[in-house]
Amino acid sequence: MPRPTKTVFVCQSCGYQSPKWMGRCPDCGQWNAFVEEVPASPTREGLPGSMGQPESINAIELDPELRLKTRVLEFDRTLGGGVVPGSLVLIGGDPGIGKSTLILQVTGKLAGEGFKALYLSGEESPQQIKMRAERLGINSENLYLLTGTCLEELFDRIDRLEPDLLVVDSIQTVYTEALPSAPGSVGQVREVSSHLLTWAKRTGVPTFLIGHVTKEGAIAGPKVLEHLVDTVLYIEGDRSHAFRILRSVKNRYGSTNEIGVFEMKDTGLEEVGNPSRIFLEQRPQGVSGSAVIPCLEGTRPVLVEIQALVGPSPFGMPRRTAIGVDHNRISLLVAVLGKRMGMEMGDQDIFVNVAGGLRVDEPAADLGIVSSMISSFLDRPVDMKTVVFGEVGLAGEVRGVSQPGTRIKEAKKLGFARCLLSRSNLEACPPTKGIELIGIESVKELMDALF
Ligand code: TYD
Ligand code: MG
Repeated sequence: MPRPTKTVFVCQSCGYQSPKWMGRCPDCGQWNAFVEEVPASPTREGLPGSMGQPESINAIELDPELRLKTRVLEFDRTLGGGVVPGSLVLIGGDPGIGKSTLILQVTGKLAGEGFKALYLSGEESPQQIKMRAERLGINSENLYLLTGTCLEELFDRIDRLEPDLLVVDSIQTVYTEALPSAPGSVGQVREVSSHLLTWAKRTGVPTFLIGHVTKEGAIAGPKVLEHLVDTVLYIEGDRSHAFRILRSVKNRYGSTNEIGVFEMKDTGLEEVGNPSRIFLEQRPQGVSGSAVIPCLEGTRPVLVEIQALVGPSPFGMPRRTAIGVDHNRISLLVAVLGKRMGMEMGDQDIFVNVAGGLRVDEPAADLGIVSSMISSFLDRPVDMKTVVFGEVGLAGEVRGVSQPGTRIKEAKKLGFARCLLSRSNLEACPPTKGIELIGIESVKELMDALF
C-alpha cells in the first residue's frame, strides 16, 4: 500500500505551517485560515546562479541609465525613478481600483517604445483586454496578450517569445503543477512567485505581479509575497472618488512612502502632476469647519483640506466619524480641546473628513484637525489664505514636525499668505518672502492666530 502523502496545514494569511488543523493561527491571529496542503519541494529563493568571488564595493560599477523610464511619470516616481531590470514588482489593491488599467497603460507605453511585453491574464479574455486597451488608446505590435493560469505553460510561451517585460494578472490565479493545492493558496502563491523571481533575476526581465487584496486589507499570503518581491506598490483610493494614489510600501531600489497621484477618467488613469491644486479646487469659500494643511506624502508635499462638522448631538449619544484620518486621534484631540481650552465638545456630534478621498496619517495633521473642529464649533471660518501644520500633544503643546521648509514652500506656491506652525519649526526655518510664518506654542494661541 502506498504511504499517504504527508500534508501540512498552512495559514492562508501568513503562511504559518502546522501538522494539525487549528481554528486560530498562533502566528498572526487569523481565524479559520488553515488549509491542508502538500508541502512544496524546497526551492531556493533569492539570487540564482553560482556564487562568484568577493569583490570590493568600490570595484562595482553602477549604470545610471539602468532604469527603464515608462514615461508615466507618477509611476516612475513611485518606483524611485523607473523600472529596474530584473526586478519583481507587486502591485496590490482592492478589486476594481484600477490595477489592470494602470499596468496595461504602463506596458502599452513601454511596448510603444519597442519593448516586447507579455501580458498574462488569468481573469480576462484577450477580447476584454483588447477592449480596455482601445479605451486607453493602446495599439502596439509589441504588446502580446496571453490568457491562462498554468505556470509551466507560461514558461513555455516565454521561452518562445522572449519578452522584455512580463505582467502576471493576477498572481492568485496562477498555479504550478508541482503542487496539488488550489490557485491562490499561500503555497501556490509562494511557489509561483519564487519561480518568477528566479526567472526575472536570471534573465533581467522586469516582472510585474498583480495581487488582490483580501477583505481584511492584506494581499493573500501577504508576508510570503512581500518579503519575496523587490517592490510592493499599493493602489489606494475611494472608489466613489476619482483619485487613485499609488504608494510604495517596500522598495529595494528607492525610497518608500513615495506616491503617485492619478485620476480615473473614462480614458484610463490620468496623471495628476500638481495634486495640491486638484485637492483644493473645490474648497468652499468662507465656510466654517475647513482648514488646509501641507502634509508630506513620501518626499512630496501635498496640500489637503480637512473638514469638520461639529454640532449638538440630538440623541445624547454623540457620534465621532472620521474619514481619512485616525478615529482615535479625533477623540484624543477633542479631549485636549476640552481640557486645555475649555472647549467642551463632549456632547457634540463630530464628523471629520479629508476632502478628495485622501488618507492622512501624519501627526502634522493634528493642528489642521483641531483648527477645523474649532472653526466649526464656533462657526467662524478660518482665514482662506492660512495653512496650519504641527503635532498636538496631550498638554496642548504644538510640536514640530519634519521638513517644515518643504511644506511652507508648497503652501506659498499655491498662493497661501500665512502659515501657523510650531515655534520650534519656526526657529528652524529661515523667514520666507511672500508668506507670513506664525509660530505657536500651544493650542491656546490658536484662537488669536486662526481667525
Ligand atoms: P480594473 O483596472 O479592471 O481594476 P482591477 O484590475 O484593480 O480590478 O478597473 C477599475 C475600474 O476602472 C473599473 O470599474 C472601470 C474603471 N475604468 C474607468 O473608469 N476608465 C477606464 O478607462 C478603465 C479602463 C476602467
Ligand atoms: Mg484586474
